[in-house]
Amino acid sequence: MIEVNFSPKVDENKLGGILGELKEDAFGGWVDLPLKISTEEIKKINETAEKIQNESEVLVCIGIGGSYLGHRAIIEALRPKSKLEIVYAGNSLSSRELEFALKKVADKDFSVIVISKSGTTLEPALAFEAFKKKLAERYGVVGAIKRIYAITDGYSGTLYEEAKRDNYTRFVIPRNIGGRYSVLSPVGLLPMAAAGVDIDALISGAASASEDNKNAAKYAFMRKMLFDKGFDTEVFASFEPATFYFNEWIKQLFGESEGKNKRGIFPASVVYSTDLHSLGQFMQDGRRNLFETIINYPTDDLNAKIVEAVLKAHTAGRIPVLKLDVPSYDEKGFGELIYFFEIACAIYCKLVGVNPFDQPGVEAYKEELKKLMEEK
Ligand code: PA5
Repeated sequence: MIEVNFSPKVDENKLGGILGELKEDAFGGWVDLPLKISTEEIKKINETAEKIQNESEVLVCIGIGGSYLGHRAIIEALRPKSKLEIVYAGNSLSSRELEFALKKVADKDFSVIVISKSGTTLEPALAFEAFKKKLAERYGVVGAIKRIYAITDGYSGTLYEEAKRDNYTRFVIPRNIGGRYSVLSPVGLLPMAAAGVDIDALISGAASASEDNKNAAKYAFMRKMLFDKGFDTEVFASFEPATFYFNEWIKQLFGESEGKNKRGIFPASVVYSTDLHSLGQFMQDGRRNLFETIINYPTDDLNAKIVEAVLKAHTAGRIPVLKLDVPSYDEKGFGELIYFFEIACAIYCKLVGVNPFDQPGVEAYKEELKKLMEEK
């Protein structure tokens, strides 16, 4: 269990109501997912992962936002032993980045996982076109199809139509699970399994967290209390450089879920010791509108001393410091953490009265981009 160093007053009635609402929500499919995911689904994912490992030296994972950050976070944090090199694409419109990714497969056997629930997001769609072309040049049209794995909606959308028509191996993102809550569905599980992550252990960690969300609820109520007192920025701090992308995943989950009606807490992140020599100054002495959430992974004695030193220094600097103790630095521990943050984020959203599952603000840039593309 994730242990916490704070104990706010938790309104149990309110919490019960919120948990009930989340389960009933049209986008609440993730709440019981770790307990409900079927053994057939896991088997199909593991078998497909093995096929990818046998056929390829490089796996290209195409996706953005919730269709990308979760698996990258875990793969980078755990650095699983695998011969397969993972390349990420489709998370920007930079042609420089795309060229760089394409070069990685220039003389290597490769497969492509394309992930998009809507099937219409521009960044991954353009990267997919480029990699499809490369696949067809290398393996011919029929050979290319055998190396494409599409993870998308089970009923409609551009990618769904194409995958069905061209007979790609398909995995479904359940309708009742939104992008940033989808890491424990095929969206996260297939890339992770292919990279060598033990997804059974990950799911079992998440399942145990879903059976006891007491501390996640405390964390959500604590954040609300701090927000009400004017602390509107939360800095997630880790002392493990490999968890940089895990912090990015949290930022995406919290930022896109909470940032509505001026009610969200701005999520930022630091990785120490590196950031003690940059943002550390701001943390100690800057504006006092922020609080810090230390994600404390099991570590060696020396690193543990820095955790203690930072906790003391920042508390003395009048920063509220929340500490989350993660029981193990492995699949099980990260499974617990994933669920902990998902449920805590959704509870906080309900406490401040925003919808945890939509992202109306993200549409604004898409509209502007569309107009500019049409002008062109
Ligand atoms: O969390 C979300 O819902 C978003 O970040 C989406 O995952 C992201 O916009 C990608 O969407 P799609 O999977 O439809 O391409």
